Amino acid sequence: MSRVVVTGRIPETALEKLRAEHEVDAWQGPESIGREELLRRVAGADAVVSLLTERIDAELLDAAGPQLKVVANVAVGYDNIDVPACTQRGIVAANTPGVLTEATADIALGLILMATRRLGEGERLIRSGQAWKWGMFFLLGSSLQGKTLGVVGMGGIGQATARRAKAFGMEIVYQSRSEIDPGIAAELGARRVELDELLAISDVVSLHCPYGPATHHLIGAEQLAAMKDSAYLVNTARGPIVDEAALAAALRDGQIAGAGLDVFENEPSVHPGLLELDNVVLVPHLGSATVETRTAMAMLAADNALAVLSDERPPAPIN
Ligand code: GLV
Repeated sequence: MSRVVVTGRIPETALEKLRAEHEVDAWQGPESIGREELLRRVAGADAVVSLLTERIDAELLDAAGPQLKVVANVAVGYDNIDVPACTQRGIVAANTPGVLTEATADIALGLILMATRRLGEGERLIRSGQAWKWGMFFLLGSSLQGKTLGVVGMGGIGQATARRAKAFGMEIVYQSRSEIDPGIAAELGARRVELDELLAISDVVSLHCPYGPATHHLIGAEQLAAMKDSAYLVNTARGPIVDEAALAAALRDGQIAGAGLDVFENEPSVHPGLLELDNVVLVPHLGSATVETRTAMAMLAADNALAVLSDERPPAPIN
């Protein structure tokens, strides 16, 4: 029997699966586990099932000890994990790709619709108690039909977002490290372009790339200035891909028309400049937040941990 430390609350079915084979120490507090408590609890762990709110770095791996075999993140993004530090110590790192693709693409489309059709503004207006009535020019937004969606990072979530946008009548261009499956590109009518071109021609830019040193502030003042002044930016990937101060300035100055954000540069803080603006939709990191998706993520993370503890290759290794 091995010792599995779970760093936060996860669905019970996944905990049961882990408990059936191992001793499980799961943080059950309503708030995130504090760093000190986390470092204390991981001591002697053979597996750590981590949430994206916990930083899994060299200090934590050393606090766990040399018996640690696997870090299984309950997330597809793994910028909270120092993967080279895991690799150096022979620790397998794993994530949860695939199972949250559709839920996250739903939120991307939701933000696109909310931003372009000014749904947040409308909701705030009604709740404020202000008088309103239907008017020819009242809260006009921007249509999606015939417009161009620029997908930055055409992995599973980018493709799923593109599929939805195509159903709304949008043309698709994308920027990606690698070419996508030609069959999928043909089905989506998607054309691969460089980021410069994507920014210049897109009516909506949606971010779906992983976060790391190569994508830190990928969208900054210069890139925002390169976008159409009628365009929208949507981020469901990771906050620091966007320079939030530059985005607030671009939205305030009308350099772009609007934005929809599910993730933030210094989460859970939101740049105060954004909070003052009506042309940005702000939602609190809900990309994968459905009962079904969170259950599937936790089950996959449990499977990753269980496989490594049985000396097998996990279903979704990172290193
Ligand atoms: C959520 O943000 C994830 O990376 O799974």
